[in-house]
Amino acid sequence: AFNLHNRHLLSLTHHSERELRYLLDLARDLKHAKYSGTEHQHLKGKNIALIFEKTSTRTRCAFEVAAYDQGANVTYIDPTSSQIGHKETMKDTARVLGRMYDAIEYRGFSQHVVEELAQFSGVPVFNGLTDEYHPTQMLADVLTMREHSDQPLHQIRYAYVGDARNNMGNSLLLVGAKLGMDVRIGAPKALWPHEEHLAACRTFAAQSGAQLTLTEDPREAVRDVDFIHTDVWVSMGEPVEAWGERIALLLPYQVNAALMQAAGNPRVKFMHCLPAFHNAETMVGKEIAEHHPELAGGIEVTDEVFESPASIVFDQAENRMHTIKAVLVATLGGI
Ligand code: CP
Ligand code: NVA
Repeated sequence: AFNLHNRHLLSLTHHSERELRYLLDLARDLKHAKYSGTEHQHLKGKNIALIFEKTSTRTRCAFEVAAYDQGANVTYIDPTSSQIGHKETMKDTARVLGRMYDAIEYRGFSQHVVEELAQFSGVPVFNGLTDEYHPTQMLADVLTMREHSDQPLHQIRYAYVGDARNNMGNSLLLVGAKLGMDVRIGAPKALWPHEEHLAACRTFAAQSGAQLTLTEDPREAVRDVDFIHTDVWVSMGEPVEAWGERIALLLPYQVNAALMQAAGNPRVKFMHCLPAFHNAETMVGKEIAEHHPELAGGIEVTDEVFESPASIVFDQAENRMHTIKAVLVATLGGI
């Protein structure tokens, strides 16, 4: 059945290729409408709760602007300003918020919690990032690749290099598998997605015609691709102590000029969900560079690549808003 009305967006696992394509087309249309001054408000009178147990710039702002553009109201809830976890369980929180809000966005740690929220709130729940998945980011990433390619989705080739066991690695494999794309993962085996997730993605790929390749060789991963994605080597919620081991494991997977060259495609583009450590100007970047001077010019991506014309990371960031708007309108907009 094709019905996105009142649907949860928890991982993408339960969305069909057709539903994902519908959301991408709707995002494209809403983007066009906004910039041509013809946007209609489909969400007047709707109230959306935004729960963030981890920090955010893009996801929070994208949900807020998308909601306001469409006439909805939002409440931002951070972990220090609510009872969640300290004095009240997620199950109880879900049943309270479900009485007041039309939908809930949740960013947190375990996927289990966002699923519990979905189970008990009685309203649609959107996963704004967990340790395991980042589904709203996937819609933005695919829309951005589509905008920067002349090819249909089935012919787009992309690589993800780095920590392939985190939310971005899992999700980029999953979305490509669903949409019939050519996906290559370049990572050390210790950081490949878990076998269970791989098996699920292989099943989706068999249905969609997607090609999934996993390799420990970063150069092989990027050969002939149109897009090279990476992400931070240590994600939110992981201990800072992880940095030492990750740097040792992932240094060969840094996206630098040589790896961009290895694609053998002069039009290859660089993508990153952001935030990115591409210089030593942030607190974390500076601290790492103090211990690893070789990373002062960037950790998972060099400043040279990040600031090059091949980098489309800010188009990608902007598209968070248009794609999240599509999710809100399709779920709550009654169209
Ligand atoms: N890409 C992304 O989710 O960014 P934020 O952490 O700023 O929301
Ligand atoms: N893998 C990163 C993504 C940030 C948007 C993290 O979870 O911190």
